[in-house]
Amino acid sequence: MVNGWLLYQTLAARVLGRTGFYQTSGAFGFRDQLQDGMAVVLVDPALAREHLLRAAGRQFPEGDVQHWWLPEGGAGIRTRITDDVVWLATAVTRYVAVTGDVGILDVEVPWLDGPALEPGQHENFFTPTVTTRTDPLYVHCTRALEHALRTGSHGLPLMGSGDWNDGMNRVGVHGRGESVWLGWFLLHTLDGFLPLARGRRDFAFVARCRQAAEEVRQALEREAWDGQWYRRGYFDDGTPLGSVTRPECQIDSIAQSWATLSGQGDPARAAEALREVDRRLVMHEEGIARLFTPPFDTSEPDPGYVRSYPPGIRENGGQYTHGASWLIFAYAEQGWEDKAGELFDLINPVWHGSGPERIETYRVEPYVVAADVYSVQPHVGRGGWTWYTGSSAWLYRAAVEAILGLQRRGDRLLIRPCLPPSWTSAQADIRVGAAQYAVQFSAPPGAPGVRRRVATTTMDGVPVPDPQVLPLRDDGRRHTVIVTLARDDQPS
Ligand code: GLC
Repeated sequence: MVNGWLLYQTLAARVLGRTGFYQTSGAFGFRDQLQDGMAVVLVDPALAREHLLRAAGRQFPEGDVQHWWLPEGGAGIRTRITDDVVWLATAVTRYVAVTGDVGILDVEVPWLDGPALEPGQHENFFTPTVTTRTDPLYVHCTRALEHALRTGSHGLPLMGSGDWNDGMNRVGVHGRGESVWLGWFLLHTLDGFLPLARGRRDFAFVARCRQAAEEVRQALEREAWDGQWYRRGYFDDGTPLGSVTRPECQIDSIAQSWATLSGQGDPARAAEALREVDRRLVMHEEGIARLFTPPFDTSEPDPGYVRSYPPGIRENGGQYTHGASWLIFAYAEQGWEDKAGELFDLINPVWHGSGPERIETYRVEPYVVAADVYSVQPHVGRGGWTWYTGSSAWLYRAAVEAILGLQRRGDRLLIRPCLPPSWTSAQADIRVGAAQYAVQFSAPPGAPGVRRRVATTTMDGVPVPDPQVLPLRDDGRRHTVIVTLARDDQPS
């Protein structure tokens, strides 16, 4: 899966064709292909770059963007969805971090011109015109972030007509509902983007964002902690979403995974919240990691079209694989070797195809990722919506960056593995231009509650000063890198 199919799925179905059996689209989704590009950049930075500039050109001067658009004529929808814009800055930051190509921020990109949404209008499909005025990509990103930093009465970012969960399109449709997930996601994005802004000496923007981020961070701890996990948000009328006090959607996975991934959740709370996800959302026997539980059915207020899916299907409390893959990153970030590896195996389509009984239940291709796996009887374990899903890109990254822990940062490779406890070796070949780095891990067996740490790294037999940072050079040669892990509870 990691050496072939995951990237093949991403390139063929998502980036180039933008189509699959379950969705014959052709359109670009604003947040969708930006996220795909965050994986593609590891193998084809030029392709990722081209799409960043394409996406930035689908932004209105007010900061908002087309939620999706048809590349032929440029028609698309203007909406009140609030996370799309943030992904632009996230994906640009990621691209710069991986490639070191900070010059992309200076590339001039035009804007879109078209009617603003009327009060009470939630979306509008039309063909905008492209302006002759251009601004650097950097300005597009700052405009996007300023747009996203609007908060509601709890001090949390507004949810508008949806955040990453497209189906929650009524939670904040009247302009007051708020999103906890978006709060974490914004903090994460600002953390990466503000150093770029500082590099450009845009100190006023940095100061404004720092202040706003600190307020959001405090609001998240003050208003979003539900007792054992973080809430998912607030409806327009102030009803909490993702709370134990509610009959449906009591706990939502992505508000917990991103408390850890943002690096800004209170550490004890963030870890407790993830343990609750593992207990309440991951169905270990059936091999399903649910997005939230219980599914929506009849409760009011109306969260949106997510409720029109039968309970346990797609975003309505099924395994929504895209969200489940974020959980692998969160487990790895916590250093939970057993959990990260277990979850990868559960999501891995090969597992679902291993044996007649499992494939009879799963019923879809066992070599591409399925966007969702049903979680409610009589269809527990049935896969749906294969091929055209952004989860293939995230799963590829989860394997390379979270589990193997190999994170490219320009001319450095960070090494932060979180290998499954039973693994005592692993190997990855990394190409840097014409150079090849054959990375071999050697580890003692893992043990519950222990994260094996990187003890030494050698390159061509010579110790690397910081064993977690390997310098990379395109010198056309083949290098052997040996990373030795150790357990702190054992003498090495
Ligand atoms: C679909 C959409 C994506 C959205 C996700 C969750 O995959 O294409 O944009 O984030 O569902 O609702």
